[in-house]
Amino acid sequence: MDISQLVPEWIRTLTPYQPGKPIEELEREYSVHNSIKIASNENPLGPSPKAIAAITAALPQLHLYPDGDCFYLKQRMAEKLDIDRSRLIFGNGSNELIEMIVRAFMRTGESIVVGEHAFAIYRLVAQAVGGRTIAVPHKGFQFDLEAMAKAITANTRIVFLDNPNNPTGTIYTRNEWEAFLKAVPANVFVVVDEAYFEFVDDRDYPNSLAYQDGKRLLVTLRTFSKICGLAGVRVGYGISSPEIIDALNRIRQPFNVNSLAQIGALAALDDNDHIWRTQENNRQGIAYLRRELDRLGLEYAPSWGNFLLVKVGAGTYQRLLPEGIIIRPMEGYGFPGYARVSVGTSPENERFIAAMEKLLKNRGA
Ligand SMILES: Cc1ncc(COP(=O)(O)O)c(C=O)c1O
Repeated sequence: MDISQLVPEWIRTLTPYQPGKPIEELEREYSVHNSIKIASNENPLGPSPKAIAAITAALPQLHLYPDGDCFYLKQRMAEKLDIDRSRLIFGNGSNELIEMIVRAFMRTGESIVVGEHAFAIYRLVAQAVGGRTIAVPHKGFQFDLEAMAKAITANTRIVFLDNPNNPTGTIYTRNEWEAFLKAVPANVFVVVDEAYFEFVDDRDYPNSLAYQDGKRLLVTLRTFSKICGLAGVRVGYGISSPEIIDALNRIRQPFNVNSLAQIGALAALDDNDHIWRTQENNRQGIAYLRRELDRLGLEYAPSWGNFLLVKVGAGTYQRLLPEGIIIRPMEGYGFPGYARVSVGTSPENERFIAAMEKLLKNRGA
């Protein structure tokens, strides 16, 4: 039987998400060791040590199903954010919440609005339910919020905004955001994906949580993957009105967040030392990379996240692989000749710069 005939057209034509190359794969393919991966905006300092200790202590309980409601994690997060627990939902990474939002609120044939160079998952998830994506051109590296509001049509259900945006690293300001909110129709969901929230240090950065008034269809997404270094266990969270959270809970898998993720996240949440060291490493790393990229004459987008979009030149990704360095090529995001480079530890950043310098010298020779 030709299975493809049974697959809806929108699934057949879907190009799956391409994750960054795993280190193990690179080392197998190139027989190199001591490789570094500065490609997926992970935490270069590793997981929160408090999370490691809590997860290790919880291993003997792995025969039990997790708490489907994430009771303790929800309780602590609600206290920390000073909100009612009915406004919180946890997911298998914030990616799962993106998917749940689309499944809960969108019908086949309806559309989402995104920035042309926004995080790729939004359009993939919309396509997976037979939805359409209206991709709005950027203003330079930034979202054009005015144009995005104007692009909303009668069948648009959701606008996705990642702030900072992956892969450009840029943010929109409070003024742009407030004007946008005024322009968005009341029946359109606005999802603000703040995966890099904790890295932003800018007075003009709007915290979307502060705009949740219970009336707007507004969802804030955050994650433990970046700041807490827990990308491997998969845990993110969403904050919205109790009604919106209730709708999402209806389609949530009963045990969507595994027990190690819950225990690790709960410990990491209060690991201020690890959070502070991560932020400090990022501040210093971004400053170092900018300085060195300027020295090498390489262009990059201004970034408020833990990565930089750099014009490294076509073919650079491939040429760095035998050096044991994985960056992320950005052709797929509409940036030919660019790569996204995550901030690493100081030695990792230095190794990337040294490899780029060598490559540029060879190119010039
Ligand atoms: C903007 C954005 N949102 C969400 C995610 C996924 O986060 P999680 O690991 O919580 O699924 C990423 C990961 O790179 C991201 O860049």
